[in-house]
Amino acid sequence: MQAKPNYSEFSEPQLVAIYDTVNCIDEYKDFYIELAKKLSATTIIDIGCGTGLLTYELSKQGHKLIAIEPSLAMIERTLERVYDSPIRFIHGGVENLDSLGALEETKTLNADLAIMTGHVAQFFLNDADWQAALSSIYKALKPGGHFAFECRNPVVQPWFKESAAIDATNHAAHIDWPSATNRRTVHDQTAGDVEWWAQLIAVNGNRVSYEIHYFFPGTGDKLISINELRFRDRNQLEKSLVDAGFVIEKVFGNWDFSLADSMSPEFIFVAGRA
Ligand SMILES: C[S@@+](CC[C@H](N)C(=O)[O-])C[C@H]1O[C@@H](n2cnc3c(N)ncnc32)[C@H](O)[C@@H]1O
Repeated sequence: MQAKPNYSEFSEPQLVAIYDTVNCIDEYKDFYIELAKKLSATTIIDIGCGTGLLTYELSKQGHKLIAIEPSLAMIERTLERVYDSPIRFIHGGVENLDSLGALEETKTLNADLAIMTGHVAQFFLNDADWQAALSSIYKALKPGGHFAFECRNPVVQPWFKESAAIDATNHAAHIDWPSATNRRTVHDQTAGDVEWWAQLIAVNGNRVSYEIHYFFPGTGDKLISINELRFRDRNQLEKSLVDAGFVIEKVFGNWDFSLADSMSPEFIFVAGRA
């Protein structure tokens, strides 16, 4: 029987400690900083903020941040950082936004911008949870506010890196996950070298389960995070946003603000609350 996802990369202390080293935000940091500036966002909700690296970068730009994260180990990590301006960190998931909004005098968090970065949206495996999340985000925004997030384009199939099925001219194919025979090594200041790679477990329609293996050569420790992600296509994402009341303003295909096409590595949505 297939093992259930445990997402231990977000909860196991040894993995949370190296999370920022393995999962660098450099690829998308500038995009979200630029977007927040373009939208003149005062208050930003960072949903699934993880260890808070981007939260921190946005707060440095002078925005007012509310950051929400369901993993206690991850949110504890955010608190180790020193921030220039106060950030409201909340331990909880997107499903807690409604109750947080209800506590406000206006009954909404009245945010100018909500973001979900690092493919948080793909962790919503079933449609009911995703639709409920969109509805909560919609309510947490002020009229005219925006929601921005990204999902990997399903055609990218990053788990099939070594498959001959990928056409070398397919410009989406450069997005790949390292494999057992092609491990990625990063150096963490505290843990030392860390080798990591992904191993596919199964592809069930648009749900992909896989293991992330971590090897610490310094200690010989081996850890595995079992994950599952949902790969929605562009039409499914657009329909879900419209059903929640959003108006889709832009769909970018990469972090350089280029518009998405069918082979773009990412679908980066910017949707507005009417
Ligand atoms: C890949 S990490 C991305 C973290 C961070 N946003 C970044 O850019 O580095 C995905 C995060 O989504 C969080 N997450 C999972 N389910 C969630 C939910 N229902 N509501 C909010 N966050 C969730 C996880 O705990 C995890 O920290």
